[in-house]
Amino acid sequence: MISAVRVLFLSFLCYVATEGWTCSKPDAIPFATVVPLKASYEPGEVITYNCLPGYYTKGGFRRFTCPLTGSWPMNSMKCVPKVCPFAGILQNGIVRYTTFEYPNTISFTCNTGFYLNGSSTAKCNEEGRWNPGIPVCAPVTCASPPVPKFATLSVYKPLAGNNSFYRDTAVFQCLPQYAMFGNDTVTCTEHGNWTQLPECKEVKCPFPSRPDNGFVNYPAKQALNYKDKATYGCHDTYVLDGPEVVECSKFGNWSAQPTCKATCKISVKKATVLYMGEKVKLQDKFKNGMPHGEKVSFFCKNKEKKCSYTEEAQCVDGTFEVPKCFKEHSSLAFWKTDASDVKPCETGP
Ligand SMILES: *[C@@H]1O[C@H](CO)[C@@H](O)[C@H](O)[C@H]1NC(C)=O
Ligand SMILES: *[C@@H]1O[C@H](CO)[C@@H](O)[C@H](O)[C@H]1NC(C)=O
Ligand SMILES: *[C@@H]1O[C@H](CO)[C@@H](O)[C@H](O)[C@H]1NC(C)=O
Ligand SMILES: *[C@@H]1O[C@H](CO)[C@@H](O)[C@H](O)[C@H]1NC(C)=O
Ligand SMILES: *[C@@H]1O[C@H](CO)[C@@H](O)[C@H](O)[C@H]1NC(C)=O
Repeated sequence: MISAVRVLFLSFLCYVATEGWTCSKPDAIPFATVVPLKASYEPGEVITYNCLPGYYTKGGFRRFTCPLTGSWPMNSMKCVPKVCPFAGILQNGIVRYTTFEYPNTISFTCNTGFYLNGSSTAKCNEEGRWNPGIPVCAPVTCASPPVPKFATLSVYKPLAGNNSFYRDTAVFQCLPQYAMFGNDTVTCTEHGNWTQLPECKEVKCPFPSRPDNGFVNYPAKQALNYKDKATYGCHDTYVLDGPEVVECSKFGNWSAQPTCKATCKISVKKATVLYMGEKVKLQDKFKNGMPHGEKVSFFCKNKEKKCSYTEEAQCVDGTFEVPKCFKEHSSLAFWKTDASDVKPCETGP
């Protein structure tokens, strides 16, 4: 009986010695390699787990020996990604990220008026460092603006050394006799250049011609230029239609072309009219005639309705037409009520 057990045991030892119990391929651990990696191992053989670059070992054991039982012990070792230094804040810019772990990439953008000095992305590398390094958002600057021909810089303050910052402005002025086309103010843009520069052009105006029944004065010069002025006047009873002083515009024409207009003679002897909202005696108000352009309103009677209404009349270059509805009556006809004293009609004549 005893010898039978012995034989069994001896034969087991014999089996282990000749065939043996082998260890199978070890369990894989994420982000780790096994050295050496084989399909089976003899008892006593040693394996080593190595985390892949960018990962480090956490917990458990790295080295194992294949035991006589032929089954690998439990392994709680983990490979965890390296974490790059905090890079969640970029002054004057924004960082976009999910995590700061290997092998993630984060990206950068700068606020308007700033530009990225450096790369717009950085990757957390195997060493746990950002590659390339974290950029900075540097302020955009504009070199001093080019001065257009026939212009001068009238306002300019380089606030960034010899340069200007985003949104800084400069103002140009044209030389005398030159007119500006475009905006006199330029602004440093987010691209580091200036907005459209203005242009200064020489402007000549033709000599103004003398108006009929009047005169015009202008500088005694070879040519009349931008902003030069001419002064108009009229003879006798003529009045100026237009401004007294005109100016040579940037388009090479005069701001206006005044003419002389005749004064109107008043043909009625006695009439009360509305002049600038007030009742006046026409013959008194315009004793010396009515200047061109003046307007008055005559009072007329509506006989059926026994009320009064007004009709306008204007002096146009010596011509003044009294409205037909107006009835002038003799100063002797004292019993007649003047239309201006009759109550106004409710609506229309
Ligand atoms: C950009 O960054 C580099 C390195 O950080 C620095 O030497 C350089 O002066 C910067 N350039 C500007 C225009 O800010
Ligand atoms: C500005 O420009 C002048 C002349 O080019 C130079 O001498 C000076 O050093 C510059 N200043 C700065 C702050 O760059
Ligand atoms: C000229 O440009 C300035 C700023 O660049 C702007 O504020 C202004 O409205 C512009 N003027 C005209 C007349 O366009
Ligand atoms: C300024 O630069 C930007 C970008 O390069 C360009 O699109 C724009 O036309 C430039 N502006 C002027 C006024 O030159
Ligand atoms: C002067 O010329 C400009 C451009 O041709 C025109 O728009 C303007 O009306 C002219 N002015 C006068 C007073 O004729």
